[in-house]
Formats: sequence, structure tokens, C-alpha cells
Amino acid sequence: MLALKGELGSGKTQFVKGLVAGLGSKAPVTSPTFTIVHEYAGGRLPVYHFDFFRLEDRQSIVRLGLDDYFFGAGLSVIEWADKVPESIPEQAQWISFEIKSENKRAIVTRDNAIRESRIAWRQYGR
Ligand SMILES: Nc1ncnc2c1ncn2[C@@H]1O[C@H](COP(=O)(O)OP(=O)(O)OP(=O)(O)O)[C@@H](O)[C@H]1O
Ligand SMILES: [Mg+2]
Repeated sequence: MLALKGELGSGKTQFVKGLVAGLGSKAPVTSPTFTIVHEYAGGRLPVYHFDFFRLEDRQSIVRLGLDDYFFGAGLSVIEWADKVPESIPEQAQWISFEIKSENKRAIVTRDNAIRESRIAWRQYGR
């Protein structure tokens, strides 16, 4: 599971496009804004693409049955995972995206990002 965080336009969806293509799938990748999940088949692994940016009811995520995806056979990748850090399993790999300039991004994996997200969530109440 990959948990992606980073400001608007920092390259999360672009990364998922590369990920899906890299697994050999030709499926077009778009962010699941009004649906819960987009599934991409045809590659070495099925990919389940989530985007929690517009998630309003935190409880709803608990009822979605995300565990079926998170602990299933495919690869789950979650944009705006830091909106619901408490719902992201410990074994998720966190990846941070940062805008360096108009055409430049920093993409960083950090093992302690989940801890930082939890602290931020407590501090800002979101
Ligand atoms: N690695 C990259 N290098 C250069 N430009 C990039 C990169 N990734 C994305 N961009 C540029 O930033 C734009 C926005 O990227 P993208 O839609 O992937 O951001 P996002 O993090 O998914 O945003 P949102 O939070 O709105 O979902 C892209 O259309 C592209 O122009
Ligand atoms: Mg996006």
C-alpha cells in the first residue's frame, strides 16, 4: 500500500499514472473524486486508486470496507492519505510530494511520515 501526501498539484495523480503504466496496464488513470475507488486491471497487479481530498465524513471511511482493498491481492494507492492517517495501516509506505518550481517536484519516502501526520491531525483537528 502506498499512502501519498502533498499539496494540490504536487504530482500525486501523475505518479499513479506512471505506477499503473509501469505495472503494464494500459488503463487510463483519473482521480476518483466522486467515486470511492478506481480500479485498473491489465497489469502485473490490480491497482486500487483512492483520493480522500473531498472526504467529508470521517466515519464514512470506516464503513466503506477498505480492508477488502487494503489487505487484498492488489496494490492500493491513496491520494491525500494524510486526511485520514488513523485509517491507514502501519505497513503502508508513505510518499511525500512537494512543489519545488513550476516544472520540478520532490518525491520523498519517509518511514516516519505517518507519525508526523498523526501529530498534525491532532494539532489541526483534521
Ligand atoms: N513529477 C513531475 N514533474 C513535473 N511536473 C509535474 C510532475 N508531476 C506533476 N506535475 C505537474 O503538476 C500537475 C498536477 O499534477 P497532479 O494532478 O499529479 O497533482 P496532484 O498532487 O494529484 O494534485 P491534487 O491534490 O489536486 O490531486 C500536472 O498536470 C503536471 O503538469
Ligand atoms: Mg490528484
